[in-house]
Amino acid sequence: MSFRLKGKFIFFATNNINKFNEARVLLADYGISVGMLRVKSLEIQSESLEEIAKTSVTEAFKRCHLPLIVEDAGLFIKALNGFPGPYASYVYKTIGNKGVLKLMENVEDREAKFQSAIAYYAEGLKSPICFKGEAVGEVTKVERKGKGKSGFGFDPIFKPVGSDKTFAEMTTAEKNRYSHRAKALRKFAEWYKHQQ
Ligand code: IMP
Repeated sequence: MSFRLKGKFIFFATNNINKFNEARVLLADYGISVGMLRVKSLEIQSESLEEIAKTSVTEAFKRCHLPLIVEDAGLFIKALNGFPGPYASYVYKTIGNKGVLKLMENVEDREAKFQSAIAYYAEGLKSPICFKGEAVGEVTKVERKGKGKSGFGFDPIFKPVGSDKTFAEMTTAEKNRYSHRAKALRKFAEWYKHQQ
């Protein structure tokens, strides 16, 4: 697919190319082009994804003075009382998918949810604006990746309600039909397309 700049434009501050591509594909449907911005941004420790995203976008804005969004996501596993929640990134880096599956050995209730908070900030705004999305599903018993496409993070062990596939077995467009990030991005896009 060729790149053409048209319609509205937004920067997405992230170091995660998968997240960026999910946003690029989804926002294109709304006529919004997106640029990936790699700015170092502070990620505070907090129980609240919204607070983390809002602080990150404010910090990122201070460095680049461009209209931008940042996203923070968490995975909440019911049988583990919401663990790892907002600490998903640390848990992924330390024990990974295999570690999570090990923690859930012999656990019958596999329910889990992903949550996403997208914070937008631009010159002249009093404070960041936040859009949220949630995807309910289950943690599979084994890792399942697609051919070629394998997603990122916990994608191989998360299967949303309504699908037989894990996120890692889906194309980007398919994942966007179910994901927490896509739901938050759609709310952002609906709002942003009406902004001056
Ligand atoms: P982050 O802090 O928003 O980057 O995400 C926290 C952790 O959750 C990271 O380890 C990510 O890899 C993981 N994560 C976030 N979103 C997704 C997703 O859509 N699929 C799978 N893993 C995700």
